[in-house]
Amino acid sequence: MEAMMLCVLAVSLAGSVSGNLSPPERSYKILMLLPVSSKSHNRVFQPVAEALASRGHKVVMLTNIPVASKHPNITEVNHGLSYFEDAKRNMFEVRKNENFDGLKKTILSFAKNLYKRQAVTELYERRKEFDLIVVNYKFNEMVYPFVHEVPFITVATPGIDPHQSAILGNVLSPSYVPEIMFVPRSFPMSAWDRFKSILWLLASGFTWRHWNIVPLVQKEISAQFPDLPPLLDIERNQSLTLMNTHFSITTLVPLLPSQVEVGAMHCRPGKPLPQDLESWLAGAGTAGVVYFSLGSVTRGESMPPNYRQTFLEAFRRLPQRVLWKYEGELEGASDNVRISSWLPQQDILAHHNVKVFISHGGLLSLQESIFHATTLLVLPIFGDQPRNGMFIENAEIGRLLVWEELTADRIVDALTDIINNTKFKENVDRMSASLRDQPTTPQERAVFWTEYVIRHRGALKLRCPATQLSWVEFLMLDIVGFLLLALLVLIFVIRRLMWSASCVLFGDRAKKETH
Ligand SMILES: *[C@@H]1O[C@H](CO)[C@@H](O)[C@H](O)[C@H]1NC(C)=O
Ligand SMILES: *[C@@H]1O[C@H](CO)[C@@H](O)[C@H](O)[C@H]1NC(C)=O
Ligand SMILES: *[C@@H]1O[C@H](CO)[C@@H](O)[C@H](O)[C@H]1NC(C)=O
Repeated sequence: MEAMMLCVLAVSLAGSVSGNLSPPERSYKILMLLPVSSKSHNRVFQPVAEALASRGHKVVMLTNIPVASKHPNITEVNHGLSYFEDAKRNMFEVRKNENFDGLKKTILSFAKNLYKRQAVTELYERRKEFDLIVVNYKFNEMVYPFVHEVPFITVATPGIDPHQSAILGNVLSPSYVPEIMFVPRSFPMSAWDRFKSILWLLASGFTWRHWNIVPLVQKEISAQFPDLPPLLDIERNQSLTLMNTHFSITTLVPLLPSQVEVGAMHCRPGKPLPQDLESWLAGAGTAGVVYFSLGSVTRGESMPPNYRQTFLEAFRRLPQRVLWKYEGELEGASDNVRISSWLPQQDILAHHNVKVFISHGGLLSLQESIFHATTLLVLPIFGDQPRNGMFIENAEIGRLLVWEELTADRIVDALTDIINNTKFKENVDRMSASLRDQPTTPQERAVFWTEYVIRHRGALKLRCPATQLSWVEFLMLDIVGFLLLALLVLIFVIRRLMWSASCVLFGDRAKKETH
């Protein structure tokens, strides 16, 4: 009965795209700009593009990664510039030095070369033909020449990003909203964590926007578009943002009407698995199955051998079967381990016999796991993954382990704890039910608000007046300063008055004492 209800809810969440929306007034032309994007950015954009295309709109996507969708109303423009290639990068190397220099190099080379590609300049010339432009705000400041004087919205692939929220006028306090890469030790944050949280927020914002990245991109862009206003001014002109998050699966924060939650949009009910996989999963019996995948950019063979051995040893000791997304040859695996280079992740997570998902904690994997009510063991590699892992640990829908402290014992203990201790499964069931319980689907919201901005020609009404204020005005530092000054003057005057009064009242005695 419960399963059936979940099924009905699931169908309705991922259900038909336009659902209750009335038909669009006409077919719009929409340009999506994500020239610098990872596979996971791309996977956030695709359901938005497909939903709009199915409404009869014509969508053009400028990207560096092939668009998987074969929808006839989606046209892909691949600029052909080489991005640091995900498949070749070793995430475990990236992890050691966060590869900030690599990212910086890529971004600067894109700023320099993007507008030299014919496909891109053609699109740029045609930009005003589009009813709306949709920008991947993360890492893509070099596309802002496109959106000058054209209505545009952004997609926030990491979900809640305090820097981006502030651009829209919603300044979130670092006292409880950590920056994407900052991981507090606990929630609520201790005084020390809050201290680090605000320093991290200020330092990361300053580094990216005012020192190490945007000013350099600005230089390249100004050389090519001398009359353009500053990139950061154009950025503030975004009408709204589609956020890859939902309040049920993250820290709850106040949002503006222009911050639209579309998280878990790609999640859908599980489909039947290939017969041999299905019988292998069912064959695990009551012990169940552990599913292990480090996502689309971390290939199994890139895992350092010592980690591989640790996992193999741990899995050998488990009563569960282990399904491991692994590319390449794997020697010494015990009989309960099955490897495959590609697996239908959502269909596996939806399988009733899959008990735990060992994941790197990428946002999309996390959403899928919660959607399908599967508990997690997270081993964060880089980026926002440590923060996501911390969330999972705090919400008690799974456990967090760090690579440095990885041992077979720790893996076995964590998995046994997650499987034996029913609180994890109960919590993830509850979270899944609240994620699925929504009045409209994420697709419907994405489509509605995108069309809304077009219908209302940029929807200026959605602009929060806070965007017009400087930091001094926003934090009312001028007023606070004035009040402090007034207070000082008042104290000074009162002291003078008291002194004069005491002279009058006590006459000589007061005078004598002051000498
Ligand atoms: C593509 O758009 C046209 C209108 O522009 C629409 O009639 C058609 O149904 C759309 N195709 C699909 C597969 O949704
Ligand atoms: C912001 O948008 C308005 C309205 O489209 C436009 O007049 C203005 O020039 C834009 N500002 C920037 C910096 O792009
Ligand atoms: C976990 O549960 C199984 C089956 O109920 C039991 O055999 C096993 O001893 C438990 N392990 C721990 C560590 O509690």
